[in-house]
Amino acid sequence: MLDIVTLATRDAVALAGGPTYTIPTGRRDGLVSNSSVDLPGPSQPVSEILRFFRTIGLNKIDMVTLLGAHTVGVAHCSFFQSRVLDFRGTGRPDPTMDPKLVKKLFRLCNTSKPSTTLNNVPKTFLDQNTSFIVDNQYYNQILKKKGILKIDQELALDKLSAPIVARFANNGNAFRKSFAKSMVKMGNINVLVGDDGEIRKNCRVFNNPN
Ligand code: HEM
Repeated sequence: MLDIVTLATRDAVALAGGPTYTIPTGRRDGLVSNSSVDLPGPSQPVSEILRFFRTIGLNKIDMVTLLGAHTVGVAHCSFFQSRVLDFRGTGRPDPTMDPKLVKKLFRLCNTSKPSTTLNNVPKTFLDQNTSFIVDNQYYNQILKKKGILKIDQELALDKLSAPIVARFANNGNAFRKSFAKSMVKMGNINVLVGDDGEIRKNCRVFNNPN
């Protein structure tokens, strides 16, 4: 099952115009499924996010590269609306966001409809320029103060990551090569081999649920 997810991701990246790359297969499936993994939040500083990436064997270049996956997909207002409605209790928007984008997102998120599930929450593209293409436009957008999540914008501003962002914004090929490399590296984290785990007979469930 894990191989299938990794292969499907590889194919989706290629179909969306991103790099093609070869991934090793043969992963076995785990016997534990834990939805409450401790992932960092989108408003944590770059240094904290980097600390997290290091704990899983990824470095600074991997971090900047993999966040480039935000070149596709969407974010719901709940993850960024404080940036446009009331940034850090100032009653004003985040000054690091382009004022035109602030206006657009304010209109999008400033609804009074209460919502219990993400399904009803408005959303916007993470890459406001080429939203369906895996390319380096994400980096150009964040250089123009058009990052949606705080972490996206901080990536362009923090001195830890800014030089890498500038390089990828300028050089689409450098991003493509790095993306292929870091995706393979991420896919090799904690791979189960030998007798560990199992090979699922049905993708959706453990072989013996008891
Ligand atoms: C630790 C760093 C990261 C943080 C804090 C983060 C945070 C987020 C958040 C808050 C969203 C919006 C979710 C929503 O509104 O439903 C999102 C979306 C997304 N993220 Fe990340 N992310 C991180 C790293 C990554 C990595 C490493 C990848 C892949 C290599 C990735 C790929 C995506 C994609 C493709 C989407 C769009 C999903 C969709 O359209 O449904 N992110 N991320």
